[in-house]
Amino acid sequence: MRHDHLIDTKQLTRQDIENVLDHAAEIDADPSAFADRHAGKLLGLMFYEPSTRTKMSFETSIKRLGGDIVDMGPVESSSVKKGESLADTARVIEGYADALVLRHPSQGAAKMVGEFVDVPLLNAGDGAGHHPTQTLLDLYTIRENAGLDDLTIGIMGDLKYGRTVHSLAYALTNFDAHQHFISPGSLKLPRSVRYDLHEAGASVREHTDIEAILPNLDVLYVTRIQRERFPDENEYRAVAGDYQIDFETLEAAPDDLTIMHPLPRVDEIAPEVDETEHAKYFEQAHNGIPVRMALLDSMLEDQ
Ligand code: NCD
Repeated sequence: MRHDHLIDTKQLTRQDIENVLDHAAEIDADPSAFADRHAGKLLGLMFYEPSTRTKMSFETSIKRLGGDIVDMGPVESSSVKKGESLADTARVIEGYADALVLRHPSQGAAKMVGEFVDVPLLNAGDGAGHHPTQTLLDLYTIRENAGLDDLTIGIMGDLKYGRTVHSLAYALTNFDAHQHFISPGSLKLPRSVRYDLHEAGASVREHTDIEAILPNLDVLYVTRIQRERFPDENEYRAVAGDYQIDFETLEAAPDDLTIMHPLPRVDEIAPEVDETEHAKYFEQAHNGIPVRMALLDSMLEDQ
């Protein structure tokens, strides 16, 4: 991959993706071999939205490469509270760090900041837009469990506001994947995403129920209804809890179905599913380390 910003998955070719996944596999096989690789390098963390996995796994990854973090900390205790613009804050923090990680509630925020900063910028989620590093760990998990060739995947839940969905769907157009989108009518893929998938020649079908398609799936990617992005709480209540995967749903599932979820889950997957062979969502979260180590390793190379 080029040593510039990672803003969305539209910028990634199949080769870029395979390079990251191959490098992540190499790191996974012997993480200690990379322990001093980026000694002294600093990763600047700018999180304007809650995060557990993404933030902690970036922190773990840079530390496992021998580097460290400088963290803006919670928005409430930063200069953002004094009215500082996002671009100004980013330009200051780039002077402290060798690369930046940004999560922000506004779609397009990472692209905008990318125009102001010279150090590599990684988009860790911009509103309902993109979440490319999540996609790379999703693809790594899919490759390990089901393979990326001739893949039939169901992507279920909040397809409208789910940035992990948008990023994953674009990335899958680089592979021979049949994508089935399952959601209530009000949470279907945004028109712009559907259009881009179509332009990329993707094989896409949309459903409101999972029953008919479940027996054909290799992977089921479940997502949380993004409550914080609903303009009206009543709209959220109308769909909350509509889709749940439990033992009963799984009666029609193929034995080798892989179930994934970017986490956090609310009630989309019943805890009873965790004990089955299908459940790969905790493994998926752990894959965030080798994959983010691989990305940082290549992006920090020339810093
Ligand atoms: C996701 C996100 O922030 O978009 N979480 C994550 O990074 N694993 C999914 C979500 O919040 O539902």
